[in-house]
Amino acid sequence: MPLNVWTEFARSEASALASTSAPLMTLTYRSRAAAPMTTDRLRELHQAASARNRAEGVTGVVLYDEQRFFQWIEGPPASLARIWSSISQDSRHTDIEAISVHAAPTRLFSQWDMRLFTSRREMTASMASPALLADPDAHRLATLAIGDDVESARTLLRSAFARIGSVHQLTEQLIEPAARYLGDLWSDDDCGEYEVTLGLCRLQTFMRDITAGSVPDRASDPLVVLVAPLPGEIHLLGATLGAEAAWKAGWETHIRFPSTEEALNKIVATNWFDAIDLSLSPALHREHRLASMEHMIDAVRRASRNPSLIVVAGGRAFHDRVATRADVGADAIHRSATDLERAILQTQHRERPSSDSR
Ligand SMILES: Cc1cc2nc3c(=O)[nH]c(=O)nc-3n(C[C@H](O)[C@H](O)[C@H](O)COP(=O)(O)O)c2cc1C
Repeated sequence: MPLNVWTEFARSEASALASTSAPLMTLTYRSRAAAPMTTDRLRELHQAASARNRAEGVTGVVLYDEQRFFQWIEGPPASLARIWSSISQDSRHTDIEAISVHAAPTRLFSQWDMRLFTSRREMTASMASPALLADPDAHRLATLAIGDDVESARTLLRSAFARIGSVHQLTEQLIEPAARYLGDLWSDDDCGEYEVTLGLCRLQTFMRDITAGSVPDRASDPLVVLVAPLPGEIHLLGATLGAEAAWKAGWETHIRFPSTEEALNKIVATNWFDAIDLSLSPALHREHRLASMEHMIDAVRRASRNPSLIVVAGGRAFHDRVATRADVGADAIHRSATDLERAILQTQHRERPSSDSR
């Protein structure tokens, strides 16, 4: 972006920041160093930034890696606006691209006026606390997943998996929070629904890359489980993660994407299932779909070949406690796909008929 256009944009971001009523805001951006930064130049930048941030009550992290900057700053809106105005006009970097600006409930980096990292690995390693780690990584993953640099998103996820070592934790710490961040970007008008959907599709593809090839032990008398997004739900990531969890539990897992209520009812009328997991978007609350979820759950029970079908519901609405089990008439809900196994098992109190009479 030419400097004058950029300066205009930065000014409008700064005035938007300054006029907000939220007590705490965060801003993230990426940029490219105008020239390679020597250790001395980085130290000088870091010292000046830390001193000014301390005076302004701003905290955050800056990563300098391969001549690129990524920075996360948080603080009172007016302070952030002043600092952002300086940063955005600093000739030491160029191609400055604001990734997100939004209100934050709490600080993530309250202990750092400005922590400088010079490699991604160092940054990830020193943010060892899961809460701290999950948030910035999930945020970065979400923003990368809707940007042009898809490979960086894939790399981030792969290296997180190498570090965390479990699909279960990767889902809970990174994928699902990233999906919710995408939803937050949408509700803050920082991206459109198309981008949320694109980001979720990409997360789903990356997860498939990671889980492909893993074959869990089959349970001795496996439950037969159907995993499906609620008909009409276009965000399929929740169902993919649910299927992964059911598969991991050693169950006979079927994943389907029925586009209508009739199609769903036909599936359960013609096949035996012990349980069905119906999911809403993992990114958005979908309050307007809750009544129809309740209706479809009632209908699916009546259509089911198994009269004791266990019905479990998932999605962001349940994670954020916007909706309860009773609101939709499910037997159980899960707040994360990783909780699906527990949700089904705790409900499985009825006698199962033998496999030949199913
Ligand atoms: C990548 C990068 C990150 C920076 N981060 C901060 C920062 O967090 N806080 C800050 O006060 N200045 C930061 N600066 C420096 C500011 O751009 C600016 O030089 C400094 O705040 C002094 O402001 P002034 O030139 O308007 O007096 C950063 C500069 C660059 C190139």
